[in-house]
Amino acid sequence: MSSLLSFLVVFSLLVLVSMLSHVHGKLINDVNQLGTNGCDLFEGRWVYDDSYPLYNSSVCPFIEKQFDCLKNGRPDKDYLKYRWQPNECNLPRFNAIEFQQKFKGKQMMFVGDSISLNQWQSLTCMLHAADPQAKYISKRIGGTSIFTFPKYNTSYLLFRNAFLVDITTENNGTRVLKLDSLSSAAQWKDMDVLIFDSWHWWLHTGRKQPWDLVQDGNSTYKDGPRLTLYEKALDTWAKWVDSEVDTTKTKVFFQGVSPDHDNPTSSGSKTCEGVTQPLKSTEEVHQEELILEKVLRGMNKSVYLLNITKLSQYRADGHPSVYGHGGHRDLDCTHWCLAGVVDAWNLFLNALLGL
Ligand SMILES: *[C@@H]1O[C@H](CO)[C@@H](O)[C@H](O)[C@H]1NC(C)=O
Ligand SMILES: *[C@@H]1O[C@H](CO)[C@@H](O)[C@H](O)[C@H]1NC(C)=O
Ligand SMILES: *[C@@H]1O[C@H](CO)[C@@H](O)[C@H](O)[C@H]1NC(C)=O
Ligand SMILES: *[C@@H]1O[C@H](CO)[C@@H](O)[C@H](O)[C@H]1NC(C)=O
Ligand SMILES: *[C@@H]1O[C@H](CO)[C@@H](O)[C@H](O)[C@H]1NC(C)=O
Ligand SMILES: *[C@@H]1O[C@H](CO)[C@@H](O)[C@H](O)[C@H]1NC(C)=O
Repeated sequence: MSSLLSFLVVFSLLVLVSMLSHVHGKLINDVNQLGTNGCDLFEGRWVYDDSYPLYNSSVCPFIEKQFDCLKNGRPDKDYLKYRWQPNECNLPRFNAIEFQQKFKGKQMMFVGDSISLNQWQSLTCMLHAADPQAKYISKRIGGTSIFTFPKYNTSYLLFRNAFLVDITTENNGTRVLKLDSLSSAAQWKDMDVLIFDSWHWWLHTGRKQPWDLVQDGNSTYKDGPRLTLYEKALDTWAKWVDSEVDTTKTKVFFQGVSPDHDNPTSSGSKTCEGVTQPLKSTEEVHQEELILEKVLRGMNKSVYLLNITKLSQYRADGHPSVYGHGGHRDLDCTHWCLAGVVDAWNLFLNALLGL
């Protein structure tokens, strides 16, 4: 009897230990588990909250026109009022002053396309709004924007690079996408925090496609399935992080794929135009997000995924629509109004940074 009992005890301990080590293996990239007592911050719902938005966009003097929906005449305001509520816990409150004080002497860089610009501006607006008297310096050197708060000695940079890997122009004018080359990376290395993003530009074809040839190791070809090219570029990036980045000094994040609402969905909405409330359900599967997660899972170094794809998919109401840069001629169902959805992404960043 007692030996049966001790067998059971030992057996369940073994099961427990193997479960724990499994969870540990996941921890490396399933960052949503880190520092949050196992609560998945990205599983939850949008709730109406009268205290929102987190800042008044009209007191953010450096906001780009394309994100400034209220100023561009957007009449409905409910989209400003939704707060992300995780199912099992609360998101830590964002205290911008405390954040700045703890980040003193440090530098953070967003690397990516205009969705990175969107998140970078959201963060700088959140920080500025909390201490509008604090001087800021905003300058641009080449493709890099540098936003500094001298009072706190903090810097928030944006490095524009839609593909992460290189595109070079050969002597004969041919533009070559080099899937195995990452020559910008030297400029990313010394940051304390890096937040990458890449996807939307991989979809461009025809006139908007910025390359003529693809080079991958010793082979050159005209084009390929975009998901395959995307995965190869991410692999190049992942190898660079694994071999070159000291993740005990530099925390590395990847912004999950930001969903657009350009296409009709089965749940009824056509595009984002005229949508004023979050969607009730979403069923889209984003293959590119699965590829990104696969690459992150295969890495040796710890990388944090901002797993924002599904939760942003609900927010067809959050895009500039005709209140972006182009009115009806250039409906924008890709970027996000500020204040808005992207502020929540920065709350995740804040939570996972655990400053
Ligand atoms: C990201 O979120 C999706 C949807 O909630 C989930 O299926 C997926 O497992 C999450 N990915 C990671 C790496 O946690
Ligand atoms: C935002 O700031 C502007 C300019 O200071 C002000 O007129 C407006 O009432 C503010 N909006 C809200 C919702 O507080
Ligand atoms: C400000 O931060 C930078 C790193 O970003 C550091 O090199 C410099 O010494 C800091 N300056 C002061 C006055 O603390
Ligand atoms: C231009 O040069 C690249 C390599 O340098 C070559 O692969 C390509 O075929 C050339 N294109 C033309 C139009 O000559
Ligand atoms: C590329 O070509 C070089 C020189 O011909 C060769 O040494 C190398 O092994 C090739 N690399 C691959 C991945 O095939
Ligand atoms: C990742 O770790 C494996 C096993 O420890 C090792 O063989 C591989 O070289 C590592 N890769 C990089 C890029 O560091």
